[in-house]
Amino acid sequence: MNALIEARGVSRQFVVGQRLFAAKPVIRAVIDVDLTVLSGEVLGIVGESGSGKSTLGKMLLGLIAPDRGTIRMAGEDLTAIERRTLARLIQPVFQDPYSSLNPRKRVAAIVALPLAVLGIGSAKERRARATAMLERVGLPARDAEVYPSELSGGQRQRVAIARALIVGPKIVLLDEPTSALDVSVQSQILNLLLDLRNDLGLTYVFISHNLAVVEHVATRVAVMYLGRIVEAADREAIFLNPRHPYTRALLDSVLTPEPGLGVPDTGLGLAFPNPLDPPAGCAFHPRCPEAGPRCRIEVPRVLREAGLVACHLYDGGTSAA
Ligand SMILES: Nc1ncnc2c1ncn2[C@@H]1O[C@H](COP(=O)(O)OP(=O)(O)OP(=O)(O)O)[C@@H](O)[C@H]1O
Ligand SMILES: [Mg+2]
Repeated sequence: MNALIEARGVSRQFVVGQRLFAAKPVIRAVIDVDLTVLSGEVLGIVGESGSGKSTLGKMLLGLIAPDRGTIRMAGEDLTAIERRTLARLIQPVFQDPYSSLNPRKRVAAIVALPLAVLGIGSAKERRARATAMLERVGLPARDAEVYPSELSGGQRQRVAIARALIVGPKIVLLDEPTSALDVSVQSQILNLLLDLRNDLGLTYVFISHNLAVVEHVATRVAVMYLGRIVEAADREAIFLNPRHPYTRALLDSVLTPEPGLGVPDTGLGLAFPNPLDPPAGCAFHPRCPEAGPRCRIEVPRVLREAGLVACHLYDGGTSAA
């Protein structure tokens, strides 16, 4: 399998608020992330609200630029890839099927629009392709003529998926694609996504709060905490043999099903830290049941011996200083 995405040392911070004479407050949303996505895999990215998942996703989509580091897509530097070429490499599906579809356009026109933007086919051909794609995602022909407001949340998300797939991308970046949907509809959409991946040979980057969802769809999982990837491994390893204490805590907890609802109850006793003033050393140490003196001082290296884990427990076998 070849690498479709290779991110190396990718960081992005945001300056928030204004201070006249003091340093401006900065949120380090993504810190020194290395990520490889192989052709055909479904990489799940999990972590609490504010851990940097969407910021990382937007950088992979080329929607925002990293402050540091490089992203290569299909072997080419992302910044050198022409917009139209990038559109055929990676397409997004976002959480909110209500706000992401133009309310004044009919469904067929919404789905055909990316083809028009890329100058593909005649109007008639674009329309035929849109109708066929709508059918492929489980929407009957009559739905092609309605407005998004006439559809349910699940149907709208099918439209968003059809729009993402119409240009034939290699990668689809799904950012909480089912989080706004009823539970019964969620599983229909997840199964549709898995079918499409098999039929069309797609690669997914699948961002979600919900570990049950990630377990259902992902082949590999990356766990983010305060901007860093703290563990990444094959799905089985993450769910059967989690190594990082944060991954274990996530598995023990019930995660909030919706983003933006704040901190899930991780059962760790302490609140999510202030991203403007993150803890020194390992950012997880104030909540970590295994933290030792070393964790308060030293940022853990990313260890790559078996899977990937950033924790002092596996670096010399001790969290002691
Ligand atoms: N445009 C921005 N301006 C300022 N801060 C931002 C901006 N975008 C993100 N952030 C901050 O960066 C951090 C990471 O945000 P991000 O949206 O990437 O997290 P997330 O893991 O996607 O969270 P959620 O699960 O809630 O969607 C947060 O502290 C957030 O407040
Ligand atoms: Mg997000």
